[in-house]
Amino acid sequence: MQNLISQLQYAEVEEELLGGTTARRGETVIARGQGSWLWDTEGKRYLDLTAAQGVAMLGHCHPRLSAALAEQAQQLIACPNFVYNDTRARFAAKLAEVLPIHLNHIFLANSGAEAIDGALKLARLTTKRTGFVAFMRGFHGRTVGALSLTWEPKYREPFQPMLDVTHVPYNNLAKLAAAINENTAAVVLEVVQGEGGVNLGNAEFLQAAQRLCQERGALLILDEIQTGFGRTGKWFGHQHFDLQPDIICMAKGIGGGFPMGAMAYTQQVQDALYPGAHGSTFGGNPLACAAGLAAIQIYQDENLIERSAQMGEFLRQQLGEALHDRTIVREIRGLGLMVAVELREKVGPYLKVLMEEHGVLALPAGTNVLRLLPPLNISEAEIELGVQAIANTLPA
Ligand SMILES: Cc1ncc(COP(=O)(O)O)c(C=O)c1O
Repeated sequence: MQNLISQLQYAEVEEELLGGTTARRGETVIARGQGSWLWDTEGKRYLDLTAAQGVAMLGHCHPRLSAALAEQAQQLIACPNFVYNDTRARFAAKLAEVLPIHLNHIFLANSGAEAIDGALKLARLTTKRTGFVAFMRGFHGRTVGALSLTWEPKYREPFQPMLDVTHVPYNNLAKLAAAINENTAAVVLEVVQGEGGVNLGNAEFLQAAQRLCQERGALLILDEIQTGFGRTGKWFGHQHFDLQPDIICMAKGIGGGFPMGAMAYTQQVQDALYPGAHGSTFGGNPLACAAGLAAIQIYQDENLIERSAQMGEFLRQQLGEALHDRTIVREIRGLGLMVAVELREKVGPYLKVLMEEHGVLALPAGTNVLRLLPPLNISEAEIELGVQAIANTLPA
């Protein structure tokens, strides 16, 4: 392996060993990050308006997060799950501080998809039903359970058969009402669809979806993996809509960029569990919990949830001013610092120019949407730089 790495460029090694699942050959090799910025191995810097796909919500290498990880790494990295661990307990208590009060039980996992898969199990156990309802353009991850809910046929179809999932159009109450039946264990939704295009849920639809679930004995599972931890300007996206979900799934921002996932759920769900019903070797490991503990403390100390709401408004207003006369722009929308510029054309080529010529990273969502998920502590000056670069990238 040493030999192989010394012979090939880093990017080529990635291509060789992780081919097809990460970057493509010849793409930039990132070496370090600080705040809203990343640097490549040549020393060129990039403004990261993706926060590493929505996870580095405190910016890259926030000094307090890095220090908490370094300190924990000296103390304890792995701990058997069958004994108590103080870091895990302190993290759980900190997470409970910011969770809706009725979600008073927590399971700690390692990723978003894993949290979703766990939630599907809990819903089956609680309801004794097996089917699920999810939404067109929804994205919930790539494990088989999560993939069953994910809508994009390109991701899902080659791996059939999946779980029993009916996909209905988002924000369409009549179709949802027709899909929930006596075998529906849960309806699973994002209150703002992320990968699918930054599509905002309609308050009436979301509340009616909750009512339907309650009336028909199905659970409401909210995927807060992208919308959680201040991304939308509230701790959790569903708090904009006054919802009381049975289970929420979290990941991305929960560890400030360190890999972690979690589910929070009600007493009713807890009552259905039995010892051994679910588990994880790495879930709740001390290093992840130290990261999560520090991250939530920093969100609180630096008022980043409120800041996300304010800066999101600033970002949308700046985009609106800079792009108001561009015919290629169909709509600018978003909630907090989850922002979309929907184009009338495919976004891919523009993202490439934005990165290569202007040093700014942004994400696609669907085929036509340029999606921005910057760190919550991004500065106004950095937003202005990013907006200028987007304006310089899109045709006049
Ligand atoms: C809404 C949503 N759910 C689930 C996932 C899957 O999370 P992970 O990649 O951590 O498995 C993602 C990832 O982008 C997501 O945005």
